[in-house]
Amino acid sequence: MNKKTHFGFTEVDAKDKSAHVGEVFTSVAGSYDVMNDAMSMGMHRLWKKILVELAGVSDHDTILDIASGTGDIAKLIAKEYPNTEIYMSDINMDMLAEGRNRAINESFSSNTHFCQLSGETIPFADNTFNLITIGFGLRNFTDKEKGLKEMKRCLKEDGRLLILEFSKPINPLFSKVYDWYSFNILPKLGAILANDSESYKYLAESIRMHPGQEALQEMVVEAGFEKCKFYNLLNGIVAIHVAYGK
Ligand SMILES: C[S@@+](CC[C@H](N)C(=O)[O-])C[C@H]1O[C@@H](n2cnc3c(N)ncnc32)[C@H](O)[C@@H]1O
Repeated sequence: MNKKTHFGFTEVDAKDKSAHVGEVFTSVAGSYDVMNDAMSMGMHRLWKKILVELAGVSDHDTILDIASGTGDIAKLIAKEYPNTEIYMSDINMDMLAEGRNRAINESFSSNTHFCQLSGETIPFADNTFNLITIGFGLRNFTDKEKGLKEMKRCLKEDGRLLILEFSKPINPLFSKVYDWYSFNILPKLGAILANDSESYKYLAESIRMHPGQEALQEMVVEAGFEKCKFYNLLNGIVAIHVAYGK
């Protein structure tokens, strides 16, 4: 029998999930940045800045940003640390093309490479990167454990992994308000700003199906990382996980 997994709240064949996710991001690529600002009321910018602060970037680091999309994280690093070498990567060519155009238009392409790749099978040698970052990408993987092991393999022994992802609110009342917002307001915002309510329904559902901060931390430890910890942001709606190669 075919292995099953979830695509939002729908059960799908595991081999098909990546194609479903691909359809979502191809559909939203052109309106992704506007929607991100609208949905989070601009807060995603701050979360990404905090991630870069926590990453402890050094001037000549070689960095892999997985699931880069339109390149917010790569841009922050490339501009602040012009001597780093950043590989901006995404499985989806439409999202990566938006990111590449932006890198050229907003002048952060000189120390940036662009690669279409899946974070589940990373085509780089062992011990390549000083830093691996992934923002709001892991949730969409078919096999998160495999992806985390791939990240561990490509990271240098003294390298760092930073994961920014939606997580679970700590306060139950806050959680109720957040659920109401996610399932009532988000799809409507998607319909108005991106002409696409289904993709934003997937977003809300995929967040609910993603492991919470403690469970994800266990997965990170299980993948072989050390000194793993996480920071809750906005009552745990979002969390940043920090882990080291050793
Ligand atoms: C919500 S966007 C995040 C974009 C950007 N990192 C940000 O924080 O704004 C998720 C991205 O993950 C990418 N993605 C989904 N599955 C992936 C995989 N298996 N490997 C690499 N990228 C993937 C999607 O194509 C999409 O661009």
